Amino acid sequence: MRIRRETLAKALVVAFVFNLVVMGAGAYLAYEQSPQRPAEVVGPDGDVIATNEDIVAGKAVFQQNSLMNHGSVLGNGAYFGADYTADALDRLTTNMREYVARERYGASSYAALDDAEQAAVNDVVERQLSAGEFGETLELTPAEAYAYGEVRESYVERYNGGDREAGIPAGFVSTPEDARRFADFAVWTAMFSAIDRPGTAHSYTNDWPYAPGAGNDAPVSALTWSVVAMVLLVGGGGLGIWLYSSVELPEPDAAGVDVPDPADVTLTPSQFAAARFVPVAAVLFLAQTLLGGLMAHYYIERGGFYGLASALGVDALSALPFAITKAWHIDLAILWIATLWLGIGLFLPPLLTGREPANQKRYVHVLLGALFVVVVGGLLGIWLGSQGYIEGALWWILGNEGLEYLEVGRLWQVGLLVGFALWTALVARGFKPLLKRESRFGLAHMIIYAGGSIGLLFAASMFYTPQTTMVVTEFWRWWVVHMWVEGAFEFFVVAVVAVALVAMNLLSRRSAEKAVMLEALLVMGAGVIGVSHHYWWIGLPDYWVPIGSVFSTLEFIPLVFILFEAIGEYRAMRDAGESFPYTLPFMFIVASGVWNFVGAGVLGFFINLPLVNYYEHGTFLTVGHAHASMFGAFGFLALGLAVYVLQFTTKRGKWDGTNLRRAFWLWNIGLAWMVFVGDVPVGFLQLETVFTGNYDAARSLAFYSRDLVQTLFWARLPGDVLLILGTALFSYDVLKKRFVRRDPTAASSDGTVISRRIFGESASAESDDD
Ligand code: HEM
Ligand SMILES: [Fe+2]
Repeated sequence: MRIRRETLAKALVVAFVFNLVVMGAGAYLAYEQSPQRPAEVVGPDGDVIATNEDIVAGKAVFQQNSLMNHGSVLGNGAYFGADYTADALDRLTTNMREYVARERYGASSYAALDDAEQAAVNDVVERQLSAGEFGETLELTPAEAYAYGEVRESYVERYNGGDREAGIPAGFVSTPEDARRFADFAVWTAMFSAIDRPGTAHSYTNDWPYAPGAGNDAPVSALTWSVVAMVLLVGGGGLGIWLYSSVELPEPDAAGVDVPDPADVTLTPSQFAAARFVPVAAVLFLAQTLLGGLMAHYYIERGGFYGLASALGVDALSALPFAITKAWHIDLAILWIATLWLGIGLFLPPLLTGREPANQKRYVHVLLGALFVVVVGGLLGIWLGSQGYIEGALWWILGNEGLEYLEVGRLWQVGLLVGFALWTALVARGFKPLLKRESRFGLAHMIIYAGGSIGLLFAASMFYTPQTTMVVTEFWRWWVVHMWVEGAFEFFVVAVVAVALVAMNLLSRRSAEKAVMLEALLVMGAGVIGVSHHYWWIGLPDYWVPIGSVFSTLEFIPLVFILFEAIGEYRAMRDAGESFPYTLPFMFIVASGVWNFVGAGVLGFFINLPLVNYYEHGTFLTVGHAHASMFGAFGFLALGLAVYVLQFTTKRGKWDGTNLRRAFWLWNIGLAWMVFVGDVPVGFLQLETVFTGNYDAARSLAFYSRDLVQTLFWARLPGDVLLILGTALFSYDVLKKRFVRRDPTAASSDGTVISRRIFGESASAESDDD
């Protein structure tokens, strides 16, 4: 079966419009059908317990204090502390039981009742929690009003008073008043996770979290659509294999091909400027892994750091609480990967076109400088903001916006957005000669579409403010996070790998284009609407369960393609033999493909079944998936591209890949260890704890303190050490290579060996339409 590029181009446009319509309607309905905040929460006597303003202020406290990086809300955030939704719901349930036991039976406590009486009490509590009605006012029963007060008190004690055993420093939330409002926010999410959505028998969150005491149990839709998803998954795997073998995509082939030697390629000044992104990324990466080590430590010793810091007169927990280390850890991950991608995007154009526009080097330096300012400002803002140093209305502009993955203040976010726009303009400028000659779906265009869509999606993070309800905030936040990792990033990876293979002369430009278009189509067709697997349990309309199950399951098809490609790339590398100059970057590209399949595919689809996700949402199974896919697929690719760039910028005869090869294996073994010895086993224990108790129990201190869990936290140590060693070795080697750097040569008028071939090829391919 031959697919014409023209057909693919049309299909891409149709897919784009379809996605826009579905997600546009989804946005409209997110505002219409998600639970609103009541103007007033009133007690049985009509006394006002909390107002809309309190709940809004509580969300601001939650964001400002980086509480989403300590624990989670609606299952999204960090897993070190409690899930505030589940925790508040559990506290409501147990306190209501006490109240009813006292009022109905005159008992001293719930525990003093016999089994039959307890069952009767449970029944009353369950009914009351499910029955409320969200309107202008939310009326509470006497038991609920009593329990509400108790939750507030415990939040003041815990988040303002501190709890070192739990890793919460005193004054974590600076005033009792703020802690009380944070409780109002948490209770509001707990209420809509329990109260039935009008016209249905389950709550606004499809009965998440699992809490039998509050009447929350897996909805039948989770079961039905898990079965559908499993059938689709098997079918999709078959379809992927059939499609791959029937579309006749050429595989890279190194046998008998004239592969350009890096030292024979002339380099322009802007390419040396682009290579500077590599050491910057190395520093960010090293900081990220060290912070990861510190976080792993906090899981074992929550109150400090071996007493070392306190011996020096510093309270480690107050100066650097888990929440800040976590915020930095994930922001740095995105930043170092992005830094390398931005660098490679700027490095490639002169390689392919053979020249660079005037002043390109200066602009690349401007971008690097701007990136530096934004990164330092953003990371500093997180610390200053969450430590309470930025007062007044500017906290979320300059300081810490405090939403997972999108932590930095809005100003820095706008800075990053401007940076992306600048980058896209610079890449387009660099590719201009090629852009003019190729079709609108040529490789240079694809790189720009993919890179540009990363920036464009980022704009969705501007659609909310601290006043927006949490449900709508989450709707948009996942537009950025999910559509990046499962859409634009995958698209970028596919496009960049294709360009690299073309530059190595292992693929023709035309066949690479076809492959990129087909994969972009598959990614777009499933991945965008696939965002709905994040919408099942957070208060958005119910129809996301069927839609999400179907579309996110279809994401398996492009992953089959990626695995096939990795196998093809491995074969090409093996056949190329000793003299092939790009074995090392190739190892990274192959590793990226394999981890993409393992991390996103195997670990992603396991937690993507609605019934599994209902119980595992916000547990270490998610962490395992996130580590394996994020570092595995995107980190390895970024590092492979860094190695590729380094090979070009190193003097002829001075290339030594020994350290980088060692780092490659340290990272692979370290990552596999961390995921399969550290994260996944803890995740399974959590799953078991949810299933046999309730969700809150799986995120409690009691769970994390269990001997077996603590042993597993220790067992992950070797993996973490290998990862840190790999990164240290990489950073050292990057530094070392600075001393064997080639001298920049001015762009020669006859281009590079690569550009001459590409332009020759494009002239002869003009009339070809397949
Ligand atoms: C390389 C591509 C991918 C990357 C980098 C990635 C990364 C992530 C990240 C960072 C999270 C959030 C983790 C957290 O909140 O702690 C996440 C969650 C999730 N991912 Fe992926 N992902 C990828 C592909 C996939 C695929 C293909 C699927 C399956 C269709 C998938 C299914 C999920 C699900 C269901 C969750 C939510 C887990 C929960 O309920 O907490 N992911 N992913
Ligand atoms: Fe996702």
